[in-house]
Amino acid sequence: MKAVAVFPGKAGSIHLTEVQKPSVQDIPSGRGVLVKVLRVGVDGTDKEINAAEYGQAPPGADFLIIGHESFGQVEAVGPKVTEVKPGDYVAATVRRPGSSIYDQIGTYDMTTDDTYFERGINLRHGFLTEYYVDEPEYIVRVPEGLKHVGVLMEPTSVVEKGIVQAYEIQRRMRVWQPRRAAVLGASTLGLLATLVLRLRGLEVVVMARTRPPFLNSHLIEQIGARYVSTQDLTLTQASDQFGPFDLMLEGTGFSPLVFEAMEVLAKNGVLVLVSVTGGNRTVDVPADKINLGFVLGNKVAVGSVNANREYFELGAKDLSQAELQYPGWLSKFLTHPVKGLENYQEMMRLLTEEKNAIKVFVTVAKE
Ligand code: BGC
Ligand code: ZN
Repeated sequence: MKAVAVFPGKAGSIHLTEVQKPSVQDIPSGRGVLVKVLRVGVDGTDKEINAAEYGQAPPGADFLIIGHESFGQVEAVGPKVTEVKPGDYVAATVRRPGSSIYDQIGTYDMTTDDTYFERGINLRHGFLTEYYVDEPEYIVRVPEGLKHVGVLMEPTSVVEKGIVQAYEIQRRMRVWQPRRAAVLGASTLGLLATLVLRLRGLEVVVMARTRPPFLNSHLIEQIGARYVSTQDLTLTQASDQFGPFDLMLEGTGFSPLVFEAMEVLAKNGVLVLVSVTGGNRTVDVPADKINLGFVLGNKVAVGSVNANREYFELGAKDLSQAELQYPGWLSKFLTHPVKGLENYQEMMRLLTEEKNAIKVFVTVAKE
């Protein structure tokens, strides 16, 4: 079967390759689930892996099959699988457990190990291929009514984790009634974070560089949030006008914004950081002021990466609610479908050059 792979460490090495089709017997415990891949989303991570910024091949291989945002349909299950059955629509989690105590209790997204295993990213093959096999622990059912947007499950899970972490932390307040949130970044993660916060009843301001109107700002306004360009207002000005923000989520990938966010965050507020910034940028910050604000305001900042199945399950619920509350909204940011694995060059081109793309995804197969 076909697969899209890179040679890790070699920039621009993306290529189509031929690999053996897996089977449920590949997992000897009888707990194998064979999934036919239908659609796979791609994002900055895939771009960075192809630029050889990170990513490692599985042991014994010289290539890595990429793709970590999967959506598919169960084709066959081993004799000891009860959780899913052929025909079910599913998404797979990305990280696989290492050895820390967090890995052992299913919270592999919280691993303290130095080495982490992520399908399509590090040491494990991904989903830009025709079939994959995994254990049911890592496979999450997607309601049939969500199959047109099932490819959003993985990015949604990342957002759910960040927001759940914020609420968990805020239990320290005994009574926390967040009213205003700011989301920094208006692409897939920013849009999904805005959605999840709107579903929780918060007033949301979304900030990104581009001046409105454009598709992303329309989408934000359609679910009752406010879009502000950072070219029109600084974060500090936006906070004066629309804040203070009890919850902030930074997902722009521009790390200097983190420090401005720390400054404007409301007293008792929580700032969630989800951008994976691989660069070496440095910046001068008003350290005393930020520190003082944090101390006197009892503020918290938390980093959040990846997501375990709990957050995929929560994601499926919120995506379902979104389809009821804002029918058709999710589909509108599935902007750039790519037909077939063989069009991987077009996929890369859209990912790197198409400024108007929100979600680029590959339609690998029809049901
Ligand atoms: C993925 C996460 C992953 C992270 C770091 C992101 O693109 O969505 O699941 O943990 O990259 O590798
Ligand atoms: Zn990703």
